[in-house]
Amino acid sequence: MQKFSVPRGTSDILPDAIPLWEDVESKARKILKSYGYREIRTPVYEETALFKRSLGQASDVVNKQLLNVSASYGGIAEYLKDSDNVISGYSLRPEGTASVVRSYLENSFDKNEPLSKFFYIGPMFRGERPQKGRSRQFHQIGVEAIGPKSASPYLDAEVIALAVHLLGEFGVKKYNLKINSLGSEEYKKKFSQFLRTALNPYKSELCEDCQTRFERNIFRVLECKNESCRKVLEKSGVYLQSDLHLPLDQESLQYLNDVKRILEDLGIRSEVSRHLVRGLDYYTHTVFEITAEGLGSQDAVGAGGRYGGLVHELGGDAKTDYGAVGFALGIERILLASGATQPVPPAIDAFVIAMDEAGQKQAFKLVNDLRHAGISTDMNYSGGKIGSQMNRANKLNARFTLILGEEEMKSGSIAVKNMTNGAQENVELAGILAHLRKVL
Ligand code: HAM
Repeated sequence: MQKFSVPRGTSDILPDAIPLWEDVESKARKILKSYGYREIRTPVYEETALFKRSLGQASDVVNKQLLNVSASYGGIAEYLKDSDNVISGYSLRPEGTASVVRSYLENSFDKNEPLSKFFYIGPMFRGERPQKGRSRQFHQIGVEAIGPKSASPYLDAEVIALAVHLLGEFGVKKYNLKINSLGSEEYKKKFSQFLRTALNPYKSELCEDCQTRFERNIFRVLECKNESCRKVLEKSGVYLQSDLHLPLDQESLQYLNDVKRILEDLGIRSEVSRHLVRGLDYYTHTVFEITAEGLGSQDAVGAGGRYGGLVHELGGDAKTDYGAVGFALGIERILLASGATQPVPPAIDAFVIAMDEAGQKQAFKLVNDLRHAGISTDMNYSGGKIGSQMNRANKLNARFTLILGEEEMKSGSIAVKNMTNGAQENVELAGILAHLRKVL
């Protein structure tokens, strides 16, 4: 018989691990709400064209990693075309920003509030080569703050401080925060041209990936860790000491310094790295990345930045100057970095044991009544010897077992065993709920 496994690069989150996930998610929700962010839930798939337009045709995520969803249902193919009239269909979302901006505009948030603060928690999908910390289905906690004329270094600092606050709460204490400014849209264009001219003579010395990057997204060459690429960067004169040879305009530099200073005022240390670029095309001005120790090569626990231009790209009002900034943290990497271990399964309040058919009927009714009263209760549905039922109660970490033996059934009572100290007493069946409320 054919056996099935989870698809490559995905994994089951088994019941024993769920308390860890619930802990991260509930802490996140509490903190995010305290910063004024409201939850948004968008579909896990969108038109492929949305991602192409947002993340950039040339980005790795769009070029190599989009997982397409068959655009047909009930035998009827649905032909969706993008703006170049290419059939594009749907894709599973590789990230959350594009969907949030789509929804922001579709639901006219920009007409109704000066700043909209969203958060989301959910699965994302990228067809990447799986390795430690990198999977094809992973989960993000993300925020997006979007609004007309909302750009302010205070908001950038708030978003970064929020990411750091969350990580601290999750137990990721040792992290490294890098920030940079990619400058304005115009600066990015000039900078791309500058890099092209500077690196062109050395193109053949770049690694294979960077040769592709040279054509598609030349900024990524700056991030390459390959020795030969680092040498090319040095000798090409792209760098001027620790800065780039093409200085940022004064306004962008001032903004970056302001973000750094505000973070410092909050006690958050950041390192300005002019090497930091991002794999997604939509960023301008502030970008940042947070790495943690012990994760190997996939050490980014979270990243984000500003992307005001994207709101226009997706159809925002041409006359409005949109500000938009956000980040996403990877939950799997957070769990790896925090070293959190699986907690002992939570105890249940009571386990009901019956000895015969009549007792089983009574037990089933009692289990139902106790659950309705808010007491977590379980039983063996197919009966069995008392020993094996006791074992099950122990496995489930029950605080009390309630035993309906022959004697108890006759006298209308039930034996209550405290599983912590072994003490046992008989209680009238009619008064069991009141008794449990007292002892639990
Ligand atoms: P990103 O850097 O592509 O940014 O992803 C953010 C985080 O998601 C990463 O730092 C990492 O922790 C996690 N992550 C990404 N890919 C994988 C993977 N294959 N396996 C496991 N974890 C992964 C974004 O997604 C942007 N939308 C962030 C943003 C929001 N920028 C502005 N707003």
